[in-house]
Amino acid sequence: MPTSSAPGKVYLFGEHAVVYGEPAVPCAIERRVRATVERRDDGRVVLDAPALSFDGVTVEYGAGDPALSTEPALTAEPARVRRAVRYVDAALASAREVAGDETVGFDVSIDSDLPIGAGLGSSAAVTVASLDAAARACDVELDRATLADRAYQVEREAQDGQASRADTFCAATGGAVRVEGDDCRSLAAPSLPFVVASDGGAGDTGALVAGVRRLAEAYPFAADTIGAIGDLVRRGEDALAAGDVEELGRLMDVNHGLLSALGVSSRSLDELVWTARDAGALGAKLTGAGGGGCIVALDPTDATERALALAPACETTFRAELADEGLERE
Ligand code: MEV
Repeated sequence: MPTSSAPGKVYLFGEHAVVYGEPAVPCAIERRVRATVERRDDGRVVLDAPALSFDGVTVEYGAGDPALSTEPALTAEPARVRRAVRYVDAALASAREVAGDETVGFDVSIDSDLPIGAGLGSSAAVTVASLDAAARACDVELDRATLADRAYQVEREAQDGQASRADTFCAATGGAVRVEGDDCRSLAAPSLPFVVASDGGAGDTGALVAGVRRLAEAYPFAADTIGAIGDLVRRGEDALAAGDVEELGRLMDVNHGLLSALGVSSRSLDELVWTARDAGALGAKLTGAGGGGCIVALDPTDATERALALAPACETTFRAELADEGLERE
């Protein structure tokens, strides 16, 4: 049974603006989503994914009242469950296409040590890992470029046509990458002392991307803010090439301010960012789509991680290593 895994990522710079063709620099982190896939000849898909949270499923039963049934009744809100599995579903459709077999079914099992839906690229990692494992289950081995491209098409479809290549390319390739429109490449990067913290929430990427689009269409200065993020990323690339970690931190702070101006931060993300800065981090910003989820800070000491662990807004915090490998096959 083929198992494929793909890493999550943090954005050093450039989320949201990358959707408008500005450059972005995501970095893969050593936390992975693993997909194990076996083909089924009865055309069914059976998904076992304890790692995905199926928001919208409720279980109801009586707690001892003899008038109530003690048999658990499961109800699901179909739209929300469908939203949770749409990346896997679209990835399997893509695998069927490369296999040239439109009716093949799959047993899919997904597990993850990456927080899901928290802005750490879990949907791209789920997409890359499940597409690759499903293709292998059909005896097709995809090269990295094809895998990254197909995973991008899957993400775009799952996000109603709004996605950049950044997350899926980073998950397929690993390391630090630079993405500008269709141009995706790997970057040399010094060791970066990432600290990640989550507020336990999860933003809806599609809705947040659509919100930025509405703002940019309504206000020219919001469109200028997107351009300013692009300028900042270009400065950040120079700092990365020079290994100037202090400058990277300063630019992360500015990037967070610009993302706030686009309306994608939140009270708890701001609180985590300020906790990190107060603890002496070199810089801190939200990472990913925002609205809730994760921040990333730079700190070579353990002061930021200790302060974040005590912050009321923080659900979990950890140090993240750059993952040199993207897709891995077992
Ligand atoms: C989400 O991880 C990153 C966004 O820029 C959307 C995208 O690039 O597809 C918000």
